[in-house]
Amino acid sequence: MASVPFDQLDGFIWMNGEFVKWADAKIHVLTHGLHYASAVFEGERAYGGEIFKLGEHTDRLLESGRILGFKIPYTAEQINDACRELLKKQGFQDAYVRPIAWRGSEQMGVSAQNSRINLAIAIWQWPSYFDPAQKLKGIRLDIAEYRRPDPRTIPSKAKAAGLYMICTISKHAAEAKGYADAMMLDWRGQVAEATGANIFFVKDGKIHTPKPDCFLDGITRRTVIGLAKDRGLEVNERAIMPEELEGFEQCFLTGTAAEVTPVSEIGPYRFEVGEISKSLMEAYSAAVQPKHAIAAE
Ligand SMILES: Cc1ncc(COP(=O)(O)O)c(C=O)c1O
Repeated sequence: MASVPFDQLDGFIWMNGEFVKWADAKIHVLTHGLHYASAVFEGERAYGGEIFKLGEHTDRLLESGRILGFKIPYTAEQINDACRELLKKQGFQDAYVRPIAWRGSEQMGVSAQNSRINLAIAIWQWPSYFDPAQKLKGIRLDIAEYRRPDPRTIPSKAKAAGLYMICTISKHAAEAKGYADAMMLDWRGQVAEATGANIFFVKDGKIHTPKPDCFLDGITRRTVIGLAKDRGLEVNERAIMPEELEGFEQCFLTGTAAEVTPVSEIGPYRFEVGEISKSLMEAYSAAVQPKHAIAAE
């Protein structure tokens, strides 16, 4: 990843309907979103000049805002057009797309009924979320101290900034011990996900993955389940207890940033980078390519 700080990259950021020079896309320190985490965002990837599953990401962004009690003041079509236009303006074929909506500076305090809802979109080049060499060998995960909260305590279906506080704490703690990331349990003690990706396991040729009832049902997760089923693989979405990790042969993560990333270790448990993980990695790489690129081959 570039060592240039993110506020000093080149190009433009789409901000409240306008293309603003990257360095000028600023907000005031008294912004509700900064103090009270009243912000929702998306993470998308463009491949070959097209944003994969853009419509689904935009719908989730609008829904996340609705769950936090605000209406993003643009239609799905306007947001999709802005993402596509910005991708062209930035001149990238393969890139990461980050729309974010937040409550502005009009009111400070827990209540901010009259605050403006802002929307910005930034696009930058982010080739691999995990170290590419490690990715091929399988990454190493720690087991996080914090758990994914009960959906009765926080709106877990929203991709909301506040839900990432425990993810950053957990990822930092894992990195400090030499791990790439951390696996989080949920409030019941069941296996949940990694700090920014969903988790899958393989045993006896069958796939097992936790039911997304208190964490994000990732768009990549759903895509990979579809790809696995297309290949005749059985996919079991169910409660998984951490003790079961002992018996699983393969493990991989899925996410827009992480794509399909094999896992070799979780705490005391070991996994191989096996055929099913590798075939789904390849299937996902093919699935994200724009349809016109495949048709032209
Ligand atoms: C906490 C968390 N879980 C799961 C995912 C995977 O979601 P998606 O596949 O929609 O990117 C992400 C990625 O944004 C995430 O941050």
